[in-house]
Amino acid sequence: MKPLKKAVLPVAGLGTRFLPTTKALAKEMLPVVDKPLIQYAVEEARAAGIEQFCFITGRGKTAIVEHFDVAYELERTLEERGKHDVLASLRSQALPPGSINTVRQQVPMGLGHAIWCARAFIGEDPFAILLPDDLMLCETPCTQQLAEAYYETGGNVVAIEEVPMERVKNYGVLDIAEDKGKLVSVKGLVEKPPVEYAPSNLTVIGRYVLMPQVIEYLARMERGAGGEVQLTDAMAKLIPHQPFHGVRYEGRRFDCGDKAGYLEAQIAFALKRADMAPAVREFLPKYR
Ligand code: UTP
Repeated sequence: MKPLKKAVLPVAGLGTRFLPTTKALAKEMLPVVDKPLIQYAVEEARAAGIEQFCFITGRGKTAIVEHFDVAYELERTLEERGKHDVLASLRSQALPPGSINTVRQQVPMGLGHAIWCARAFIGEDPFAILLPDDLMLCETPCTQQLAEAYYETGGNVVAIEEVPMERVKNYGVLDIAEDKGKLVSVKGLVEKPPVEYAPSNLTVIGRYVLMPQVIEYLARMERGAGGEVQLTDAMAKLIPHQPFHGVRYEGRRFDCGDKAGYLEAQIAFALKRADMAPAVREFLPKYR
């Protein structure tokens, strides 16, 4: 079994739910407390042993790549001003040279199309996908939980969670072959089904470990829900040929592509921080 060392992070979406902010600012650069969403995703992947990153970018997304550059002038100024703690913290977050790759998705034709754009990066290797707007608060990083499931099952794994039946229409939904508790073997997947056709209420969230063969199905460029090239449809085609499991991850997900989810993430992450929690606890009750 090949080790999991690569991750693809699609960041080429338009982020229309955050307009007007996203006219000139990439959604993935929105901060939660003081760190942009993209950095949370990269740190989660690194904690799972990922060494190579591929950002699928598009117009107006250059700040995402620059964020991972060394900011020489800033570092010198911090040094001159004696801000050694801040400087050390910045330096500790730096990625090894050569670990960031970028690919352009000129037209946002859907998540499946975005992943297909990374085909040369993926090559013959298994790879993780992290959607940065799904922000995870987990004791064991969510991608690490998936990596463990990949090494156990030797095939495709996706992080899953249960949602109320009336919300399945917003997600990729599992058709379950066998429910083994933490692991669920999957016999089918449907993207955004109407509630009456949903095979379950177990839904796929923005964390995956996939085998490179998924690219062959994406290359067919079949349009699915919303007229987009859907990753779910290509994954569904893999299922008869390869092991495919859902993983009930342990932790919490915040949908930061949605305004209410983003606000909740700010509170949850601030409450986890010793420097922020007291202030937040003091002001929160005022808004009951
Ligand atoms: P979303 O559908 O949540 O993002 O895609 P969006 O389209 O940017 O947001 P809204 O709905 O208009 O507000 C999930 C992830 O997939 C990426 C997005 O950048 C996001 O990280 N994506 C989506 C692409 O890279 N390319 C696409 O064609 C679509």
